[in-house]
Amino acid sequence: MSLQSQLEQLKEESLEKITASDNLGSLNDLRVNLLGKKGPITEVLRGMKDLSNEERPKVGSFANIIKNQLQQSIDEKKVLLEQKKLQEEIAAESIDITLPGKKITAGTSHILTQVMEEIEDVFIGMGYQIIEGREVESDHYNFERMNLPKDHPARDMQDTFYISEDILVRTHTSPVQARTMEQHDFSKGALKMISPGKVFRRDTDDATHSHQFHQIEGLVVDKGITMADLKGTLEAVMKKMFGENRSIRLRPSYFPFTEPSVEVDVSCFKCGGKGCNVCKYTGWIEILGAGMVHPKVLAMSGIDPDVYTGFAFGLGPDRVAMLRYGVNDIRNFYLNDVRFLGQFQTKE
Ligand code: PHE
Repeated sequence: MSLQSQLEQLKEESLEKITASDNLGSLNDLRVNLLGKKGPITEVLRGMKDLSNEERPKVGSFANIIKNQLQQSIDEKKVLLEQKKLQEEIAAESIDITLPGKKITAGTSHILTQVMEEIEDVFIGMGYQIIEGREVESDHYNFERMNLPKDHPARDMQDTFYISEDILVRTHTSPVQARTMEQHDFSKGALKMISPGKVFRRDTDDATHSHQFHQIEGLVVDKGITMADLKGTLEAVMKKMFGENRSIRLRPSYFPFTEPSVEVDVSCFKCGGKGCNVCKYTGWIEILGAGMVHPKVLAMSGIDPDVYTGFAFGLGPDRVAMLRYGVNDIRNFYLNDVRFLGQFQTKE
C-alpha cells in the first residue's frame, strides 16, 4: 500500500475514533496517541526516506494536511464535549422549583402578650405612659399604701406567696399606683399611666382561677378629674376593644383604695345585649374594677386630695382573651402546650 493510501486509511480510522470519543479524558488520550511523536502518522512518515525526491514533499504536505484535519476534528469534538459536560453539570445542579419548599416555622407571641399589647396601644393612643412595675413587692406598697392596713379584712381575699414577712409576690398591679404617684411631677402635666403585668394570689386553680394571672392597672390623677372622666375613658376603651356598638354600665362595689368604687360591665359583644352563653344570658360582661382614687391613697403618696383627684381601674387581660377567643379554661394560657398557643398567630 502506498504511503498516501496508508495515511488516508489512518485518517479515516482516526476520525472514527474521534467521533466515537465520549469524554474529554479519552479525547485527550486520542490526541496524544494520534498526533504525538510515537503516533501512527509519525510512524508512517518514517517510511518517507525510501521515497523519491519528487514524491517526498507531496507525501510530506499530504501528511501535514491530514495532521491539521485531525487536529481540527479533535478541537471541534473538544468544544462539543465541553458543552456536553457543562449541560450535564447544569442539569445536575438545577433546582426543581416545582418541589414544595421547606416550611419555616415562625414562632408567635403568647396570646396574652398579644391582647396586652393591643390594650396598651389603645391607651398609648390616648396619651398614657406604660409603667413597668415589679412582681416582687413589699407589703408596704402592695397593701399599706393601698389603704389595706395589716388587719384589714380585705387582705384575706388577696393572700399570696411571702418571701419574707414584708416581701411578697404582688397580689395586684395597684402598688404601681403608689410608686408612680410619689414620683410624679404635676408641673409637667397630668399623671396618666397604665401598668400591665403578672399578679399572684393564693387561689384554688380551676377553669376560671389561676394562682397567677395578669392585670392592667390604670391611673389618671390631675386637678378636676371626675367620675365622668372614668366612665368616658372606659367606654371609649371598651368600644376600641370590643366594637363601636358597645356600651358600659357601672355597679357599686368596694375596694379599699377607691371611693366610690364600681364594677364595670360591657354590653355583650357576641349577642349585643340580648343574652347568650358568653354573657350567661345577662347581656352584660363583667370586665373590670374601678373607682375614684381614695383621698387617703393620694395623701399617702404626697398628693393633696383637696387639690387633686383621680380615677383608677384594674382590668384582666386573661379574661378578655378567654371571652374573645372562647377559651374555657384559664389554665390553658399557662400550660405552654404549643397546640393551644400556636392557634393564635401574631398579627402583622
Ligand atoms: N386591684 C384590684 C383587684 O385586684 C382592681 C382594681 C384596680 C380596682 C384599680 C379598682 C381600681 O381586684
